[in-house]
Amino acid sequence: MKKRKNIITVAIDSPAAAGAGTQAKLISKYYNLFYLDTGKIYRYIGKLKLDNNKNFTYNLVSKEVGNLKIKQLNNKALLSNEVAISASKIAKNKKIRNIVHKYQQKCAYNPPKKYKGSVLDGRDIITVQLKDAMFKFYISASLKVRAKRRYEEYKDLDRKITYKEVLKSLRIRDKSDKERKFGPLKKTKDSILINTSKLSKKACFKKIKAIMDRKLKN
Ligand code: C5P
Repeated sequence: MKKRKNIITVAIDSPAAAGAGTQAKLISKYYNLFYLDTGKIYRYIGKLKLDNNKNFTYNLVSKEVGNLKIKQLNNKALLSNEVAISASKIAKNKKIRNIVHKYQQKCAYNPPKKYKGSVLDGRDIITVQLKDAMFKFYISASLKVRAKRRYEEYKDLDRKITYKEVLKSLRIRDKSDKERKFGPLKKTKDSILINTSKLSKKACFKKIKAIMDRKLKN
C-alpha cells in the first residue's frame, strides 16, 4: 500500500468509555487530522450480525466494509449496548479483524489530502494498526468512572438501561477485549498513559497537546 509521506499519525487505545473518542476528536480538530473511530466499524459489523444472523458470512462483511462510507458510522443505532456487546463478540474473530485492518490502514496512511494526517482510536491501534505512529497514547479511567460516563450518555440518548447493567457490560467487554487471542487491548511500553478519571476533557487535551507540540516543534 502506498503511504502518504510526512503526515502526522496519532494512535490511541483505550478500554470502553475512557474518553478516547473525545480526545481523538479534539486532536483531529486542533491539528487538522482525519479521525477514524475504529470501534464504530466493529459496531457496524456487530449490528450487521444482529440484523442478518442467518446470512452473516465473511463475504457479506467483506462487501459491506469494502463499500463503507464514513457517514454510515454516524448512525445512532450503532450506539446501543446490544450493538456494543455484539461488536465485542465479532471482534474476536481473526478473519473479521483482517477485513477491518485493510480499511483502517487506508484511512491511517492515506487520509484525504485536505488533512495533515490521521488519528485513530480503538483497541489494537498502538499494538497492531499503527505500530509506527508518531504519537501513541493509552487512555484509561477507572471502571466506575467509565460506567458512570457511559450511563449518562445512554440517559441523554433516552436508552433504557440501569447503571448496574452498564457497569456489568463494560466489565465483560473489558475482559473480552483484554484476554482475546487476536489484537488484545494492552498498554505498550512506547505509549503514553493518560488517566482521565480525575481530569476534565480540557485538562486532558492540554496534557496531550503539550506532548504533541513538544515533538512537532522540534
Ligand atoms: O470503542 P467501542 O466501544 O465503540 O468498540 C466496540 C468494540 O469493538 C470493543 O469492545 C472491541 O471489542 C471492538 N474493537 C476492537 N478493536 C478496535 C476497536 C474496537 O476490537 N480497534
